[in-house]
Amino acid sequence: MSKQFDVIVIGGGPGGYIAAIRAAQLGFNVACIDEWKNDKGGPAPGGTCTNVGCIPSKALLQSSEHFEHANKHFAEHGITATGVKMDVAKMIARKDTVVKQNNDGILYLFKKNKVSFFHGRGSFVKAAEGGYEIKVAGAAEETIVGKQIIIATGSNARALPGTPFDEELVLSNDGALRVGAVPKKLGLIGSGVIGLEMGSVWRRLGAEVTILEGLPTFLGAVDEQIAKEAKKAFDKQGLKIELGVKVGEIKTSKKGVSIAYTNAKGEAQSLEVDKLIVSIGRVPNTIGLNTEAVGLQLDERGAIVVDGDCKTNLPGVWAVGDVVRGPMLAHKAEEEGVAVAERIAGQHGHVNFNTIPWVIYTSPEIAWVGRTEQQLKADGVKYKAGSFPFLANGRARALGDTTGMVKMLADAETDEILGVHIVGPQASELISEAVVAMEFKASSEDIARICHAHPSLSEATKEAALAVDKRTLNF
Ligand code: FAD
Ligand code: NAI
Repeated sequence: MSKQFDVIVIGGGPGGYIAAIRAAQLGFNVACIDEWKNDKGGPAPGGTCTNVGCIPSKALLQSSEHFEHANKHFAEHGITATGVKMDVAKMIARKDTVVKQNNDGILYLFKKNKVSFFHGRGSFVKAAEGGYEIKVAGAAEETIVGKQIIIATGSNARALPGTPFDEELVLSNDGALRVGAVPKKLGLIGSGVIGLEMGSVWRRLGAEVTILEGLPTFLGAVDEQIAKEAKKAFDKQGLKIELGVKVGEIKTSKKGVSIAYTNAKGEAQSLEVDKLIVSIGRVPNTIGLNTEAVGLQLDERGAIVVDGDCKTNLPGVWAVGDVVRGPMLAHKAEEEGVAVAERIAGQHGHVNFNTIPWVIYTSPEIAWVGRTEQQLKADGVKYKAGSFPFLANGRARALGDTTGMVKMLADAETDEILGVHIVGPQASELISEAVVAMEFKASSEDIARICHAHPSLSEATKEAALAVDKRTLNF
């Protein structure tokens, strides 16, 4: 007889493992199936985020930032560091240890919350008596049955047509995080989030980095003023970003990769690099789920169609995270996972899409929440804007990192905060204040009147709020 569960979660990334834990907290008997294997063939739950995404990329960003500081910034503090070298193998090994700590942490959390973990691929099977069962193909094969199913199967890197990833010369995010030595010349296609983060890692370590971007504007989804400021900083660092290109034929050989493209002026160009990272977005993953057998509806992009509550077209089947519409972010996947578990328990799970923060972990960091100035204009919303540069912030000067600003946008009549955009040091941490403020429908005046610790970078947020009312104190 098949094992019976109240809830079966397919996929153990941030969407899936968090849904499983929340469902278990709510008293359900829960199974979570995940197929990711570590290099010994054992389980490695945590999905893209833990294994080849958020966590390892931040580990490498941290290591490469230390290297850059030692080489370029220690001297201004009076510290002499000579003969600074980077041991890439050690950096990658440290990253792997950080990943493993996270994998082990999730297995521990499953145990603690009494979630039954199955290591293998889950797929839908039509049950003889109607409905469906889930087949788990792992070391052994078994079938389990759940009253409710949550699909959280994530996404995969999109390849350029005709140029599959070989993970040696043409790299997805997976190969990009396992490069064994600093390439002399590194090419990237796509100056989105991965292009900028991975480009920054290898540029800091000494690679000559060129990013080819199809769109004529840099970071089109980011507030224009912020994107412009970030671009200036990246140019200064020597990150070469070519906009408005059309990528043509890509050839690989023993020597490396040759990319033919036309530049924004329509001129034929070619780029020769040792390795190429293709970071042109990701595609929802339903491979091997056997969705056709049960009639699960997908859209034209291959994403599972869900309603506002993450319900699919099949009764009792839900889907969350990268495999459904919306931003492909770990924290969005987690919020959906929690909300679905709570809805299954009859509660009112809730995800506010208007207050999901975005962060790009470059240097300077870029972070934002809410609408950009260009979106407000397009929506015909009357707004007030205030900004404050880190150059005028004492803590930023003490840190030696004064690039960028905090910019606040508020409704012209009600003063409600509509968007906060940051480029500069610790933007990833600073954005949380803006998220909380927007979640509570705060006005810019609320932030302007809240006491912020001195000296702190967060004072720039308070000053940006003061700037909305044209009364900055320190600028
Ligand atoms: P995933 O994390 O992709 O997890 C899906 C899991 O399901 C995987 O383990 C997969 O093996 C498993 N699976 C799939 N099919 C089956 C099946 N049939 N049976 C069993 N298991 C299955 N987001 C951020 O918010 N912050 C960041 O800093 C950030 N950095 C990133 C850096 C990189 C390089 C990349 C590529 C992504 C990054 N992301 C970041 C995005 C983030 O990783 C995703 O949004 C997040 O992982 C989505 O979570 P998920 O649970 O939907 O899917
Ligand atoms: P992306 O959508 O951020 O950027 C892709 C870029 O490639 C875009 O600028 C696009 O215009 C460009 N592009 C697309 N096709 C092209 C082509 N043929 N030629 C040239 N340029 C082309 O996607 P990316 O960087 O691959 O990352 C995928 C997703 O992973 C992100 O959207 C994000 O959701 C997530 N992620 C989040 C991170 C974070 O939160 N810090 C870090 C990394 C990834």
